[in-house]
Amino acid sequence: MCGIVGYSGSKKALPILLEGLKSLEYRGYDSAGISLKTDKIYTVKTKGKIVDLITLITESRLDTKASIGIGHTRWATHGHPTSTNAHPHTTKNVAIVHNGIIENYRDLEAYLKEKGFSRATDTDSEIVALLIEYFLEKYDFFEAFSKTIAKLEGSFAIAAISTKADYIAVAKHESPLVIGIGNNETFIASDVAALIEYTNNFIFLEDGDIARIEKGNIEIFDKDKNLARRKITTINWSKQKAQKGGFKHFMLKEINEEDEAVRNTIQSRIMPDGRLILEELDGMEEILKNTDRITIVACGTSYYAGLTAKPVLEKFTGVKVDVEIGSEFRYYNYIYSKNNLFVAISQSGETADTKEPLKMAKNNGIPTISIVNVKESAIARIADRCIYTLAGPEISVASTKAFVSQLAVLYMLALYMGHLKGKDNSKEARYLLKMPHLIKETFNMADKTANSIAKAYCKYKNYLYLGRGICYPLALEGALKLKEISYIHAEGYPAGEMKHGPIALIDEQTPSVVVAHPHEPYYSKTLSNCEEIKSRGGKIILVSSKPHPIADETIQIPDVNYDFAGFVYVIPLQLFAYYSALYLGHDIDQPRNLAKSVTVE
Ligand code: M6R
Repeated sequence: MCGIVGYSGSKKALPILLEGLKSLEYRGYDSAGISLKTDKIYTVKTKGKIVDLITLITESRLDTKASIGIGHTRWATHGHPTSTNAHPHTTKNVAIVHNGIIENYRDLEAYLKEKGFSRATDTDSEIVALLIEYFLEKYDFFEAFSKTIAKLEGSFAIAAISTKADYIAVAKHESPLVIGIGNNETFIASDVAALIEYTNNFIFLEDGDIARIEKGNIEIFDKDKNLARRKITTINWSKQKAQKGGFKHFMLKEINEEDEAVRNTIQSRIMPDGRLILEELDGMEEILKNTDRITIVACGTSYYAGLTAKPVLEKFTGVKVDVEIGSEFRYYNYIYSKNNLFVAISQSGETADTKEPLKMAKNNGIPTISIVNVKESAIARIADRCIYTLAGPEISVASTKAFVSQLAVLYMLALYMGHLKGKDNSKEARYLLKMPHLIKETFNMADKTANSIAKAYCKYKNYLYLGRGICYPLALEGALKLKEISYIHAEGYPAGEMKHGPIALIDEQTPSVVVAHPHEPYYSKTLSNCEEIKSRGGKIILVSSKPHPIADETIQIPDVNYDFAGFVYVIPLQLFAYYSALYLGHDIDQPRNLAKSVTVE
């Protein structure tokens, strides 16, 4: 959460910083600011979004030729989202931007107070600027910066500039920071999406790294203060992929891209005859063959992808699967089995609540695999192996194409492990190859209906989402989508559990979205649950390939094998949430209180 950006080169820094901040805005959007350096430091910051910052910059007629600068877009942790608490934080000679949490800021505040420095904001981050300013009394900027970083506990990606130096100093620990390599110019940002317009070549800093960035010159020092060589990674995401491309919102664009996301994820890994080539797992065959339990850990939509894939993983591998929520798992004394495999799922690869359990599993000697979308992110790098979802950048805070791509990897993993355990599942692998086509067909079939039903129903304040079997985690995911972007209260429940409590909520004002696969073993039981809803005056929106007269509305989708329902049934749920939020006039790509990448606990 929070996005940081920086530029050091020969061009004007201001437009580059503002463009970068626009791309990073999904990481936080309650306040924003920039600092530019010439012979002095100019800082403009404000409560609100990047558009408010641009207005303020225009009004203040800030027109500097500065070719060094840093910027920030904030998701508040410490201190209200006000202009004062916005970054950059400044002192007489220093400006800093920070993403993360300085856990020992109160101790550092006490230390600084004795020396005559005190905070003017409510943030933990300001401590960093104050410490550098204090050390500047004795040391040069880089030394002062290094001494400051050595005192910090917590998570941070920090960029700092000073009136006393012509470079940016950066540091990374547990928060993402990427350096973009240009032609005699260097960029820094919280992620690649902000820089893809300028370069395809990146250095991903490692925890403990500190760097000095002056135009095209980059010097990196590791945690032991040794000059470090970090590899350059080329990322071929196109600029267009990180833009809306004619769509009103990233979310709709990304729902539209789901077929392509799955195609890219599977096409080089499944051969037309159903053979699987998962090079990422080379050398791990014995471990996978002997695995007797799979533990999946993830958060939010990634967690629901794990839950959706669970029955299929168990069916294809014969191995017991536990799916756990990251924030709970990290404080729970999980009992691993003898041949446990740990799988972390994360679109961003930076989610703190998923990263920590992954580290714990590694420390316990458990073999680990991560399923991640963002290249070279922390979760991708920590795991023994990473299988990337090739969904391209996902910008919308509400995750959509990541979900189906994660399913695609989980299904491939299931099929591959099944194969290693002696099962012939090439038929299922070939069926997986059909998913991109089915996803597109689903979109085309569901889009208009989801739109018109959302228009008619968005006035309701409460919803139940119900399903059984594989449709139950889909109901959970549908409810999450509706909650996060339309702010409508929605509860996902196993349909059979209704009578144990939630049925009390049913009345004319509480519609139920029922996700029902007609070939599921308990389809008729789900229909009985629908009867129970109807007899209490509740309305039913049925999501199914088979219409049924009991439903008030139906979003009909193509027929799909029950085991693969997740790829198809999730699309109408995403569309329904999208159109509901659209009719309610919400900021769909930047829903309130949320951030795309949750790097704090
Ligand atoms: O980047 P991750 O997949 O680790 O993110 C996990 C959740 O924070 C994320 O899925 C969140 O729930 C989304 N906003 C859901 O749309």
